[in-house]
Amino acid sequence: MSKNNPLLEAFNQTIYPVGGHSKRNIQVLKEVLNEIDGNLDSDIYGSGKLIENFQEEMATYLGKETAVFFPSGTMAQQIALRIWCDRKGIKKVAYHPLSHLEIHEEDGLKELHHIETILLGDKDRLIRLEDVLHMQDDIACLLIELPQREIGGQLPDYEELVAICTYCREKGIRLHLDGARLYEILPYYQKTAAEICELFDSVYISFYKGIGGIAGAILAGDEAFTKESKVWKRRHGGDLISLYPYILSASYYFKQRLPKMNQYYEEAKMLAGFYNQCHGIVTKPIEPATNMFHVHVDLPKEKLEPILIALYEETGIGLIHYVKESSETSCCYEVSIGDRFAHIPKDELRKAFQLLDVKMREAAALSE
Ligand SMILES: Cc1ncc(COP(=O)(O)O)c(C=O)c1O
Repeated sequence: MSKNNPLLEAFNQTIYPVGGHSKRNIQVLKEVLNEIDGNLDSDIYGSGKLIENFQEEMATYLGKETAVFFPSGTMAQQIALRIWCDRKGIKKVAYHPLSHLEIHEEDGLKELHHIETILLGDKDRLIRLEDVLHMQDDIACLLIELPQREIGGQLPDYEELVAICTYCREKGIRLHLDGARLYEILPYYQKTAAEICELFDSVYISFYKGIGGIAGAILAGDEAFTKESKVWKRRHGGDLISLYPYILSASYYFKQRLPKMNQYYEEAKMLAGFYNQCHGIVTKPIEPATNMFHVHVDLPKEKLEPILIALYEETGIGLIHYVKESSETSCCYEVSIGDRFAHIPKDELRKAFQLLDVKMREAAALSE
């Protein structure tokens, strides 16, 4: 896969890759299974202690009545919105213009459920209270994504979030939380998961982002909601006879990494600080609100890539494995902090950024 991709090849050779937890390889599952008694019964079509206990544990963690395990968040969220639309008899929902449902799901919500979507606010910023207040359309549900991934993981102030949710409640608009990165926001808000989820009627969380499991999602809400979601899960083909590799890995890494979310957040702030000292580089947001942020570079992708490759070879530190073109003169990428960051000697990291700054200045001088 890294053939003809020199940046990825160079990244794979580094001693200290910066983002994420580890390589996404089979070891992720092997580590989990080493700890598990082979006589444990598998889950079967959504039943059995293994799945039911985990669902109960997650419902408690989220402060909701019940929870259902899904193979993917894509499936879980489309179903959640379908249920809220059916309840209200209005096939319309609202969300951010760069919501996962809008840009990464091949219009599943529209094609499969015939639900119309209202794109609230501007794609370069968070949804604001005023966007909700000025919404002309009658909608069944507002989906809020915390953090808003495609703009670098930004978060609204807690007070604004509460104001949006309170207004929707008063208007009879259901609230769904896209909490793919819910654990990652808790240090910023200094709240428990249950305190955040209390603002929402339904919540989805993921187990393969900050938690670093294989795949899988939980959808939580009241009992009537989750009961209906199980019917839709069956209709979508999501009731795999066994989901235990996902559930076991979700449970294992949840316990291991949930206590580290504050550490990842602090490390992300440190790393963003290093980036922001480099010429022609700025992070979005400037100070991360979670363990993630975006890096925006004032150089074309073709000019940044050789700089990064040389940096990796000289320092052994791998900043990123890909770069995305944002315009003819600029490029960007996303960084998410996980377990790897703690292993990097910070003096060497600092030196790598000093070198990056020098190389960026040289590149800028050459293009003047
Ligand atoms: C914000 C957000 N919502 C939903 C999803 C969908 O999750 P899944 O990949 O489990 O379908 C993702 C996945 O990247 C995501 O980032």
